[in-house]
Amino acid sequence: VRASSILILGLVLILGTTEAVGRDWESERLELVRSIRARMESLVADLGLGAVDQHVLDALSRVPRHAFVPPDHRASAYLDRPLPIGHGQTISQPFIVAFMSQLLQVSPGDRVYELGTGSGYQAAVLAEMGAEVWTVEIVEALARSARKTLGALGYGGIHVRHGDGYAGWPEAAPFDRIIVTAAGEEVPPSLLDQLRVGGILVMPVGDPASVQELMVVEKGDDGELRSRSVLPVRFVPITGDH
Ligand SMILES: C[S@@+](CC[C@H](N)C(=O)[O-])C[C@H]1O[C@@H](n2cnc3c(N)ncnc32)[C@H](O)[C@@H]1O
Repeated sequence: VRASSILILGLVLILGTTEAVGRDWESERLELVRSIRARMESLVADLGLGAVDQHVLDALSRVPRHAFVPPDHRASAYLDRPLPIGHGQTISQPFIVAFMSQLLQVSPGDRVYELGTGSGYQAAVLAEMGAEVWTVEIVEALARSARKTLGALGYGGIHVRHGDGYAGWPEAAPFDRIIVTAAGEEVPPSLLDQLRVGGILVMPVGDPASVQELMVVEKGDDGELRSRSVLPVRFVPITGDH
């Protein structure tokens, strides 16, 4: 019995390893980016947003999403779906990551603040677009794991902090761009204060228990805020005691 158990365990280990080693993650990733491009092209045209930002698609092509997904969901890393990352939280759907990154209009050298690090994947996409990123995560285990993943992949320009991101990161403000990747009833006023003149903020605003609107807020040169809603979305809620 012992010998056969050892044989079975050995086979399981070998098959498990072969599946991970033999997998062509890059082909899967490029296929996903192709499908996102097609979907983005039609959405961007419908919404009159100009052209799809090639820098977003290039960034998505470079970030190994499978490294940000827990092992038990890794096989689904390049499906266009949100996936569980533990603690009741999710890594966002790649299409939504791409679309929010497009709306942010990030340029190399931009200082970007993110509320909701989660797995760290969105931060990595923004870093690939040339941004320096300050990101806050309220679940300590997720902040620790994201820091580890980003460090292992060599993303030195991403600063991860554990805490309540509602208050922003005043020492690093003002930010050129702000992205909120959890839903709230209103845009946190502290984040609007930390957005520089000429800056852009993107956030799902609405009932956190239901559907929200993806909002784009621009701070004009006169300091006036102009906001518009772009797309219905569904995000996990902002938590904390603000
Ligand atoms: C949809 S997930 C974010 C996905 C993430 N951007 C990624 O790329 O994996 C939302 C995250 O926001 C975090 N969160 C919720 N409320 C927060 C708060 N007040 N401050 C910081 N993070 C918060 C959640 O714990 C969760 O990890």
